Amino acid sequence: MVGIGPKRPRSRKGSFADVPQNLLAEIKHFEDIFTVGAAKLKQVSDHFVKELEKGLSVEGGNIPMNVTWVMGYPDGDEKGTFLALDMGGTNMRVCEIILGEEKGSFDIIQSKYRMPEELKTGTAEELWEYIADCLKQFIEYHHENQELSKLPLGFTFSYPATQDYIDHGILQRWTKGFDIDGVEGQDVVPPLEAVLKKRGLPIKIAALINDTTGTLIASNYTDPEMKIGCIFGTGVNAAYMENVGSVPKIAHMGLPPDMPVAINCEYGAFDNEHIVLPLTKYDHIIDRDSPRPGQQAFEKMTAGLYLGEIFRLALLDLLECQPGLIFKGQDTSKLEKPYILDASVLACIEEDPYENLLETRDVIEKSLGIQPTQAELEMIRRLAELIGTRAARLSACGVAAICKKKNIQSCHVGADGSVFTKYPHFKARGAQALREILDWAPDEKDKVSIMAAEDGSGVGAALIAALTLKRFKAGNLAGIRDMGSMKTLV
Ligand code: BGC
Repeated sequence: MVGIGPKRPRSRKGSFADVPQNLLAEIKHFEDIFTVGAAKLKQVSDHFVKELEKGLSVEGGNIPMNVTWVMGYPDGDEKGTFLALDMGGTNMRVCEIILGEEKGSFDIIQSKYRMPEELKTGTAEELWEYIADCLKQFIEYHHENQELSKLPLGFTFSYPATQDYIDHGILQRWTKGFDIDGVEGQDVVPPLEAVLKKRGLPIKIAALINDTTGTLIASNYTDPEMKIGCIFGTGVNAAYMENVGSVPKIAHMGLPPDMPVAINCEYGAFDNEHIVLPLTKYDHIIDRDSPRPGQQAFEKMTAGLYLGEIFRLALLDLLECQPGLIFKGQDTSKLEKPYILDASVLACIEEDPYENLLETRDVIEKSLGIQPTQAELEMIRRLAELIGTRAARLSACGVAAICKKKNIQSCHVGADGSVFTKYPHFKARGAQALREILDWAPDEKDKVSIMAAEDGSGVGAALIAALTLKRFKAGNLAGIRDMGSMKTLV
C-alpha cells in the first residue's frame, strides 16, 4: 500500500493532542479495562499452575491435560515416508514427509486447502468426505496406482480429544467456532478411515495428534532445548513432556513413573469458571453468543479468532452508548455484523507506519465502510494496541505456568500459529510479560524464549507416527490400540 506522510516511530504512544475530551475519556476507559499489569499476570499464572495440576488429577478440572501417548522425544533415527493430514481451524493441509538419514533432516511436499466456512457448521459426513477428497486429490497426484496400505498417516486433529490410545481420539468438544453435530463424544478415527476406504484409499491412521504436540516434537527434533510447543493462532494451546509418575489419572496403568509422556494441555479452557481472568463485558458477550458458552475462556481472550470481534464489540459499544461521539453521519450498519473483522485487520492497524494513520483509514473503510476522523483513527489505533497487547500478555501466562509447574528455569518454546507469526509486536509483548511474571533481573537475558517452531502439524505428525511404529516394534505397547494395522505398517 502506498501512503503519504512521515512514518511514525515504532513505539510512538499515540498523538492524542487533537482528540476531544469526551473521546479521550473513552480511550482512558479502554486503557483501564484492557490493561493487564504485572501483579495480575502473576496472579493469573499462579492460578494457572494449580489448574494444570488439577487437570492431571483423577478428579480433573477445567484444563483437560490430555494424555497423548507420545512417550518421549525423537532421537533422530526416525526414518521413512509418512502422510500427514492437518485439520486446523482455518485450513486443511495434506503433506508427505520423508524423514531423512541425517538427524533432524526432512523433506516435505504439501497441498493446502481453505476449509469452506459452511463446513464448520455442516454435517459430520460432509466434514469427513471433504477431508477424504483432499487426501484423494493429493494421492492421485503424487502416488497414482501405488500400494498405500504401508504408508502411515499422522492425523493432526487440533481439537480437544480424549485418547485412551494414540490411534484413536474422542472429541471432547468443538472449539474455534466449529459446531458439527454428532462428532462430540465420538471417536473420530473410524469414520474417517471408513470414508477413506470407501474412496479406495486403504490408509491407516497410525497416530492422532494435536498441533501443539506436533509442534513440541518437531521443534525438539531440530532443537533439543525446545521443551514446550505452543500454538497462538485461530485457537491457543500448549503441550509439554511430563513424567508418567506426575499424572495421577493414569496411575492405574502401572507404567514406570519416570517414563516420559507428552501432555496436550488444552489450556484454552483455563479459567472457564471465571475466577481470575480480567474479563470485560465484551468477553462476556463473545462467550454468551458463541456456539459453546462457558467453554474456552482463556482462548476467547487471546486467540486470533476473537481479537477482531472484541475490537468490533468495543467500537459498537461506544457507538451505541455515546450517541454522536464517533462516526457521526456515517453508515455504521456493517459494524453490527458479528465476526466481520478478523485479526488481520487489527494487525494491519497496529502495523500502520504513517503518522496520519492512512493505512488504518484504508482498512476501516474497506472492512466497515466508515471514514473515520483523525481523532477516531487515534482511538482505533489505541484500541487495537490494547487488545493485541492484552492477548500477548495473557498468552505468556500459560507458558510461564508450565515453566513454574515443571520448575523449568530456562528453555526454548516452539511457537506457531497466525497470531505468533503475523501479529505485530506479539512476540516482544509476550517476552516482556514473561520477564515480569518470572521476575528476571533487568540485565538478565530471556531465560525462556518463545521462538518460531518447526512445522508441528506436518513434520510433527510424521515424527509421532514414526515414534509410535518404533515403539510398537520394540514391544512398548502402552496406548496403542490397533495392533493389526501397526503390524502392516512396520
Ligand atoms: C484447540 C486445540 C488446539 C488449539 C490451537 C484450540 O481451540 O482446542 O486442540 O491445539 O486450538 O490450534
